Amino acid sequence: MAASTHPANPLDRVVVVGLGLIGGSFALGLKANGLCHEVVGCSRSTATLEQGLAMGVIDRAEADPAVAVQGADLVLLAAPIGVTETLLRAMAPGLDGATVVTDAGSVKGNVVAAARQVFGEVPPWFVPGHPIAGSERSGVGAARADLYQRHKVILTPLAQTADFALDRVARTWQGMGAEVLTMEVARHDAVLAATSHLPHLLAFSLVDTLAKEDENQEIFRYAAGGFRDFTRIASSDPTMWHDIFIANRQAILDVIGHFQRGLTGFQQAVEQQDSEAILGIMTRAKVARDHFTKMLAKRAYSGTMTDNNMVFTAHPGGSVQGSIRVPGDKSVSHRAIMLGALAEGQTEVFGFLEGEDSLATLQAFRDLGVTIEGPNNGHVKIYGVGMQGLQPPHGPLYLGNSGTSMRLLAGLMAAQRFPVELTGDESLSRRPMQRITRPLEQMGASVETSADGTPPLKVAGGQTLTGIEYTMPMASAQVKSCILLAGLYAEGVTSVIEPAPTRDHTERMLRGFGYPVTTEGNKITLVGGGGLTATTIDVPADISSAAFFMVAASITPGSDLTLEHVGINPTRIGVINILRAMGADLQIHNERKVGGEPVADIQVRHAPLKGIHIPQDQVPLAIDEFPVLFVAAACARGRTVLTGAEELRVKESDRIQVMADGLQTLGISADPTPDGISIEGGTLGGGRVDSHGDHRIAMAFAVAALRASGDIQISNCANVATSFPNFVELSRKVGMKLDLAEAGGPHE
Ligand code: S3P
Repeated sequence: MAASTHPANPLDRVVVVGLGLIGGSFALGLKANGLCHEVVGCSRSTATLEQGLAMGVIDRAEADPAVAVQGADLVLLAAPIGVTETLLRAMAPGLDGATVVTDAGSVKGNVVAAARQVFGEVPPWFVPGHPIAGSERSGVGAARADLYQRHKVILTPLAQTADFALDRVARTWQGMGAEVLTMEVARHDAVLAATSHLPHLLAFSLVDTLAKEDENQEIFRYAAGGFRDFTRIASSDPTMWHDIFIANRQAILDVIGHFQRGLTGFQQAVEQQDSEAILGIMTRAKVARDHFTKMLAKRAYSGTMTDNNMVFTAHPGGSVQGSIRVPGDKSVSHRAIMLGALAEGQTEVFGFLEGEDSLATLQAFRDLGVTIEGPNNGHVKIYGVGMQGLQPPHGPLYLGNSGTSMRLLAGLMAAQRFPVELTGDESLSRRPMQRITRPLEQMGASVETSADGTPPLKVAGGQTLTGIEYTMPMASAQVKSCILLAGLYAEGVTSVIEPAPTRDHTERMLRGFGYPVTTEGNKITLVGGGGLTATTIDVPADISSAAFFMVAASITPGSDLTLEHVGINPTRIGVINILRAMGADLQIHNERKVGGEPVADIQVRHAPLKGIHIPQDQVPLAIDEFPVLFVAAACARGRTVLTGAEELRVKESDRIQVMADGLQTLGISADPTPDGISIEGGTLGGGRVDSHGDHRIAMAFAVAALRASGDIQISNCANVATSFPNFVELSRKVGMKLDLAEAGGPHE
């Protein structure tokens, strides 16, 4: 039976061959976690063995490897990898097939080769391994019992490796808190060449180069943070790293080649003072590094709300006062990046929404080779590459929660010369995509969905598109925009006919970039083959975000709130029209136009609301605002009825069902229908509701608490960051009482 390393059933004896930082820390980890009865240390240095005994790292010392390993359950080889073959040969007479041997070398190919040299084939009891932990310090004196805690250990078993051996090694590492994964030998060596061996080589090389310079004294005297951070690992053990560089020679030479090409490109960019290229390298690197850091910490792009278990607790009471500017319009922000990227020249964007959805679009265009600076406080600078300048991305474009990113990008990608895969999170991966793939296919594109018409989208490259006249079966600005963007590349005329007006930001912004688009009644037309000229874009505050506060002030006695610089594009003002029809007191001040879009300040005061039948022509104009309008309906006198809104069922969640469920939990009579809902105004109670990861549902219920008789707890609120990253902050600023916590405990 396989020995277990569960502390309740520890191994009898473990031998550590090579007692440096790695072997010593393993020995201490075994003891600290009660993973074995006896740890035997083996080293050719008597001084090291004595130090190990004196420090209590090992229980017994043994100089001869063959004697040391006799009768052991487990042996860890933790000597420099150059001596692996010698050590295996030396211990071979003491091994009997029941003892499991593993190692900690940073290269696996040569360890496997050494085992073959000694034993003819890699024995089933030998499990090559590599703990991804260490420090620039070396020697048993630097050993720490917790060195491997929360670190990865990669095991590279072979086909013949015995299960009991793999199990024993894996459990031992796990027993000291490490995360164990397995990989193929060659892959391990290629990955480590890039992520560990090259950085060490560069650090050694940089310090050596600088140390040889004449003024080295001066250089080192003034070398501060950057130099210290970059070169810390140049203090690592030279023998160990010598062995690694020799053992993983080919993989390291390959990555040095890549690096040299990158360095030459950077050198040329600096020589030629090519700011776009320099900024391109650095913005891509910064984003990649930040993204990687967040990924390791399992955090999302904007970093405000980190976990889908984010819970809002909204307390009743208070009134809503003051003057605020909500973040930039999401729809306009997406389009600014897309058109700016395809334009000739540099586009500057002000007021860009730094929410996860628009950041996903921004990142996608970086992945497509576009240099984009920012965002810095809403300022973004895009170095347009022209209509034909996008580059093939290195992998799928990940669009998070954002339907707009995926649908609009699909139109653009359909016309590129290279293939692209578009992916998204769980919610986006459930949303219907045939509404865009069908018309795109009519244009000559090839876009594959999964069997049920959902993402991922696989867009084939190199297709020739031809303009079509398309009558949309649903009123969708995303579908319209997707077709128009594909139409930019299509031969001839592309027209879209809308069943009802939808947001027209794409048409307006195309014109702003100098691309002719005509709108005649419900038909929008453009001719393919033109170009875009860079411009400046001032993004208005998002009326869809402002809507939460319009309802908050309307339903709460004593409220008086001004929302500044809100976009009041006629295709977006359904929420204003509907609230006014319900009796709300909304005043529009200071109307003006910024960059082709009308904006105004909107003052909202409390007023008693009444239930209405929502006119169907307002539905597409208020499509994102219904969750919070349902809250207004719950606080109104009488019944509010919505019909013709089946699109709400395929948003980030099924917004009809999820809102009906939540309102019922709070004691409101809310009856869902296939294309709408009927809500009887009443008294809101407290309770627990689930936003189903839908940002607008989460914010709508936070607003509802203003009129509730008890706390409302809302779960799965992390996605609020997709459209409104500072919602909590602004809510508190105007007087709402909102706490947030991760499911386990309080936050902030
Ligand atoms: C959007 C269009 C709307 C809206 C979405 C943003 C856009 O979707 O719900 O949040 O930017 O074009 P549909 O056009 O699918 O209704």
